[in-house]
Amino acid sequence: MSNNQKIGKKVVNPLSAGSIIQIACEMLKYINKQILFHNERTAFIALNIARHMGLGKEYSLQNLVILSLFHTIGFFRDDTFFSYSASEDKIDYFTKDHFIESKYVFSCYYLEFMTPLKQDALALENFFQPYNKDMEKYIYQEKIKSILYFSARISDYIYRNPDSPLPEDLNSIEPGQFNPLVVQSFQQINHNNSIINQIKAKTHLNFLYNYVSKITLSDKDKNCYLKLVTYLLDFKSTSTMTHSINTSCYALALGMRFNLSQDDISQLFISSMLHDIGKICTPQKILEAPGKLSPEEMGIMRYHVNHSKKILTDLVPENILEDVYRHHEKLNGNGYPNHLTEAELSLIQRIITIADITSALSDSRSYKGEFSVEETFTIMQKMTDNGELDKNIISVLFNQYDSIMEDLRFFQKTLQADFSQIFMRYNDFVFNDIEPLVDAVEVIDTVEYI
Ligand SMILES: [Fe+2]
Ligand SMILES: [Fe+2]
Repeated sequence: MSNNQKIGKKVVNPLSAGSIIQIACEMLKYINKQILFHNERTAFIALNIARHMGLGKEYSLQNLVILSLFHTIGFFRDDTFFSYSASEDKIDYFTKDHFIESKYVFSCYYLEFMTPLKQDALALENFFQPYNKDMEKYIYQEKIKSILYFSARISDYIYRNPDSPLPEDLNSIEPGQFNPLVVQSFQQINHNNSIINQIKAKTHLNFLYNYVSKITLSDKDKNCYLKLVTYLLDFKSTSTMTHSINTSCYALALGMRFNLSQDDISQLFISSMLHDIGKICTPQKILEAPGKLSPEEMGIMRYHVNHSKKILTDLVPENILEDVYRHHEKLNGNGYPNHLTEAELSLIQRIITIADITSALSDSRSYKGEFSVEETFTIMQKMTDNGELDKNIISVLFNQYDSIMEDLRFFQKTLQADFSQIFMRYNDFVFNDIEPLVDAVEVIDTVEYI
């Protein structure tokens, strides 16, 4: 077994599955809080209906809750590919137009490929199709979809009609669309308006996150959701996501050369994966700025450590929170946010700082290309001479650079996501879907010519 395979086995994720899911939700909230609130209401309603229907005997309620919390994940992408910005609250995410439908299809493929939900995510593929009882015999996702879809519609109704009660006949919200058993279950559990009142009083969040905090998953599945947390940065800035992965790879490659204990290696890995997640709150135009940042913009950029702290407080152990908060501190007190000095910075924190800088210098960013190894070393040597970086770690980095790069490539293979499959399937969907429209336009053109 090679050294890097050994280290792979050494990483035991100390975070609870529930905390990782909550970190992801917190990050999504910073992109678009209204959509996340909708997901929370949907998850709360879906969980209550599913319990009442006894679904837990045949299907994982945990998965239903996770699927509900992420069912609109395609809406959070903030890029030109969809020519829509998630930060703008203008989008009407529950209209049944073609564009909105395609976002659910994107959510479906994204969750299928990127999370342990796998096939369960297919419940979103034909999300707007009316409930089909016969289909339920062949596709288990039909039942899950019927609970999720109905819950989402009730959540949407509450959002749009904050002052009016639900209609007497719930089917009138969307005639012919719902599973009658789901409607009946909801009517029973919402006796005296108890479900709706909990949502209006916001007590549903305690109930929901209490349930989420008790979710248990295998280590493999937990690590998969941890990767999802880092990949969410891609919704704002691809280079920030890639940088977080590369920083973790450099940190592991350096950490294994300091004979760290299993606990320390795990802490180093989790802290570096999370080190920049506060950038989910940083405006995209600053993250992707083509040139040097102004002092004001730099201030906003630097504030990401505070955002990270806010997102992670109460969800990760104190030592991980500290590592993340301190990754821009320098040994000579020149760092931020607290100008800490050598005596206050642990070996793990010093490794993360150096891994962070190595990745920042050697990767290409919006404002610069990749620096060569020589350029990277020159800059880091200057910083070390200036008393900013740990001499021992720097000397290991410089002297063992080739073997560090070998380990880096190994870790990258396990951590980097292959988004191409999602986009290929999504493009197939968009193409197949627009083909009939193109045919129709050709027919009209022909008729005009005749
Ligand atoms: Fe940072
Ligand atoms: Fe960073």
